Amino acid sequence: MGTFVVTGAASGIGKACAERLRAAGETVIGVDVRDGEVVADLSNPEGRRAAIAEVAALAGGRLDGAVMAAGIGPGADRERMIAEVNVLGVTELLDAWQAAFAAAGDARVVVFGSNSTTTTPMVPRRAVRRLVAGELDAAVKQIRRRRGVSGPVAYAASKIAVTHWCRARAVTDDWAGSGIRLNVLAPGPVLTPLLRSQLESSTGSQVRAFPLPSRRFGTAEQISDWVMTMLSPAADFLVGSVIVVDGGTDALIRPRDWPRPLPLQSVPRLLWAMYRAPREGRVAQY
Ligand code: NAI
Repeated sequence: MGTFVVTGAASGIGKACAERLRAAGETVIGVDVRDGEVVADLSNPEGRRAAIAEVAALAGGRLDGAVMAAGIGPGADRERMIAEVNVLGVTELLDAWQAAFAAAGDARVVVFGSNSTTTTPMVPRRAVRRLVAGELDAAVKQIRRRRGVSGPVAYAASKIAVTHWCRARAVTDDWAGSGIRLNVLAPGPVLTPLLRSQLESSTGSQVRAFPLPSRRFGTAEQISDWVMTMLSPAADFLVGSVIVVDGGTDALIRPRDWPRPLPLQSVPRLLWAMYRAPREGRVAQY
């Protein structure tokens, strides 16, 4: 049995995942701002440093996996906090724990994205790039220019940024090459306290009106089933993937946007990867 860290373990999806892992006999280090083995506020650098250090001390140098579910939803006037928790609350922690994941040999990490990444308009690409680079002041400034919609835009930008970060890290020698499987789960609306607060807010009618082919919200239990699969041996061949579990909204709005052929400007990257892969051992042994 292994040791798993679950952020956001006090509520909703994180709580359901922590319960499933414990029921399977795993040791869970829950991290949350209000309840858990490690109580830390991921919205500021001190809180993130404390979470990193306390988890490392409890894990004793080895982590078999992580579920990064701490997050805050769209909301006016909290663009900065959204970026701190949803981006740095993942990227800083995972980078700090990479050696502990590598020590396990076959660690698996699930990060929460969202289908808002592919269904939210007006997200400035430059803001996303800045979030990935950790330049929060500049990113938040750009996001706040989207007056009236800066809350949803901040949320979508934060989730695109953390997804891009994960996909780039996932394929590197330090991650895939060290046996770590890092993947993203992108849910649509799941009936948790986060969604309930959105439904009860001034923008609740817009959330309710959003098209949902399944005609039902998801549940935390369903999502935790997907997480358990992404933490299981079935995930050995899953690297840098984004698993969309969203009741069909993404397919409804963007039926032909992907898969799509490799664009011409990406061909040099493909050729370079093909040239380097055998030299760097990044090919299958069989
Ligand atoms: P939730 O609100 O039920 O749980 C989130 C947890 O994160 C809470 O326990 C909360 O205390 C913790 N948290 C928030 N700010 C924190 C901070 N500063 N420091 C430490 N912990 C903090 O939300 P839910 O729905 O379970 O969301 C889990 C993840 O799934 C989030 O990343 C969310 O963005 C994502 N997601 C949720 C969807 C939904 O419809 N519920 C849809 C798409 C993605």
